[in-house]
Amino acid sequence: MNLGLEQKSVLVTAASRGLGLASAQLFAAEGAKVTIASRNEESLQRAAQQIQTATGQSVNVVKLDVNRPEDIARAIESAEEFGDGLDVLVCNAGGPPGGSFIQLDDSKWYQAFEQNLLSVVRLTRGAIPYLRRSSAGRIVNITSSSIKQPISGLVLSNTMRAGVWGLTKTLSDEFGAYGVLVNTVGPGRIATDRIAEIDEVTAQREGIDVAQVTEKFIAQIPLGRYGQPEEFARAVVFLASPANTYITGQALLVDGGMVKNL
Ligand SMILES: NC(=O)c1ccc[n+]([C@@H]2O[C@H](COP(=O)([O-])OP(=O)(O)OC[C@H]3O[C@@H](n4cnc5c(N)ncnc54)[C@H](OP(=O)(O)O)[C@@H]3O)[C@@H](O)[C@H]2O)c1
Repeated sequence: MNLGLEQKSVLVTAASRGLGLASAQLFAAEGAKVTIASRNEESLQRAAQQIQTATGQSVNVVKLDVNRPEDIARAIESAEEFGDGLDVLVCNAGGPPGGSFIQLDDSKWYQAFEQNLLSVVRLTRGAIPYLRRSSAGRIVNITSSSIKQPISGLVLSNTMRAGVWGLTKTLSDEFGAYGVLVNTVGPGRIATDRIAEIDEVTAQREGIDVAQVTEKFIAQIPLGRYGQPEEFARAVVFLASPANTYITGQALLVDGGMVKNL
């Protein structure tokens, strides 16, 4: 299937590693003009080099902390200049810290709100004038399987991701009239640095090996393994492409069947 992404202008935030990087690389492989943005310049340059080597496409690189409105404005402007417009926005950010409710004070709640919910609001507000002008404007918000089944010990993530899901649905209604399609994709357990760190912390807390932690999670996944970032990226890239003409306001989990609800 031709996804129709050639020459489309795409901004992926938090794209120097993991799910963001895998998505950016697949957009580039499809011939899109891709801008990647995150905080550490060295990691960004490494990611750009990786994409260039794998796809032959050079990508635009912008330093961005999604907590800073001025960085968001600059990233959108840079993506728009590089791509001669903006067709696709993929909102991604680092995950909030774990912890149970009684361990978390207001400052942690404000930080998680700004990084994982307000950033999506700000990115969308900045990008929507350009997306409206596109013939195939698309927004994909990266969340978590917790939008369908909250995860113990991740109260900040559970709460903010649910907010992004509510926002996604609402925006799909408001932006449908402009032909802008808005969806969210929720990872279950996709093998990235973040998941490796979480497994390590869980192993320490429970006094067991990381391998045992991994085994426990895998036992809950019908496909019997963690997913790979490229497998997740395929869902993001399809939903963000002109080939997706009628799917909007949806939450798609890429979780190997882990979440059991209907
Ligand atoms: N992997 C999974 O299975 C899974 C499951 C559920 C939810 N998630 C969520 O999906 C998102 C991506 O996960 P991942 O596994 O790809 O994480 P990852 O491997 O830790 O990568 C995180 C990326 O986010 C960037 N980043 C972090 N904070 C940022 C900020 N304030 N502004 C801009 N960029 C920032 C990092 O680059 P810099 O440090 O250079 O900024 C890096 O590129 C996270 O929110 C995670 O919680 C992932």
